Amino acid sequence: MFRAVCALCALPALAAPMFSAEPAGKIVRPAAGSWLRAGKIDIAAAAPGGRLLLDGVALDAEEPFPNVFRAPIDAAPGEHVITLEWPGGKREARIHVGPSAPQGFREFVAHPPAAAACASCHALSRRGRFRFSGGCFGCHAKAEFAKVHSHEPHVLESCGLCHNAHGSTAAKHLLLSREQACKQCHN
Ligand code: HEC
Ligand code: HEC
Ligand code: HEC
Ligand code: HEC
Repeated sequence: MFRAVCALCALPALAAPMFSAEPAGKIVRPAAGSWLRAGKIDIAAAAPGGRLLLDGVALDAEEPFPNVFRAPIDAAPGEHVITLEWPGGKREARIHVGPSAPQGFREFVAHPPAAAACASCHALSRRGRFRFSGGCFGCHAKAEFAKVHSHEPHVLESCGLCHNAHGSTAAKHLLLSREQACKQCHN
């Protein structure tokens, strides 16, 4: 039997949107160490007062929500550095486009496959917080969910606990191994 009591205690904290508790900036995609076959990259990032640069040159990013950025770019083959800067911080992601990726770089698989609007999965809460608003089951079969996850969708509705829904270099876009993913509530 699982420790249901502790699991339930942990629920509100885990179910809270990560973004609100995380003041620092984040490059949501592509992941550092990504290898992309073609130069088309749809950068997604967030930081209070942030700006995006490619190889040190500022990008003209869209801002679909306050402090949330999107910059579709077409990068030449070779290595590139994506930088997210904001007052008080900075993050970098090194990526490789085209053949001869350095060792350790892994293929980046974008998700969802076609460039979807950020607003298809995000909205502002009534308090004006950027949050995940659902939308996965417009494309994925809800009926298959419990077979794979051992839970009905409402228990695991914060898909971002375990998946990077913007694409990743990991199988099934997992942020953690299956074991670690389930241990977030079952210890
Ligand atoms: C297929 C659905 C989907 C689409 C499309 C999508 N997102 Fe997300 N996004 C998510 C999920 C799921 C999370 C995790 C939310 C959570 O855990 O609270 C998330 C989280 C985020 C975060 C917070 C990341 C963090 O770890 O704090 C940012 C920033 C973000 N998305 C930006 C974007 C931008 C910009 C776009 C458009 C380019 C976009 N998203 C499109 C599903 C999506
Ligand atoms: C616009 C349609 C669309 C939306 C919305 C969407 N997906 Fe997907 N997703 C796909 C397609 C297409 C694939 C690749 C083919 C496949 O494996 O089904 C995929 C693949 C995946 C995979 C990898 C499956 C594998 O076998 O490798 C995961 C995990 C996933 N999606 C999770 C999510 C989550 C979580 C959300 C919501 C935050 C979401 N998807 C929203 C279309 C979508
Ligand atoms: C507790 C972690 C966790 C959460 C939360 C979670 N998933 Fe998953 N998901 C997994 C794991 C682990 C796998 C891989 C299962 C495997 O390969 O056996 C997976 C696989 C998938 C797949 C691929 C299915 C397949 O046929 O292989 C899809 C699609 C998916 N998840 C969608 C979602 C959606 C949509 C949500 C939110 C409603 C979500 N997941 C929430 C852990 C999670
Ligand atoms: C967000 C928290 C959360 C995550 C993540 C989570 N679970 Fe659970 N799980 C629960 C809670 C709460 C219960 C007890 C209440 C219930 O049965 O729904 C439970 C119960 C279960 C049970 C049934 C236990 C019983 O005796 O009935 C199984 C099996 C299970 N989880 C498997 C998994 C697997 C496999 C994963 C990873 C894919 C996972 N859980 C991830 C919260 C979670």
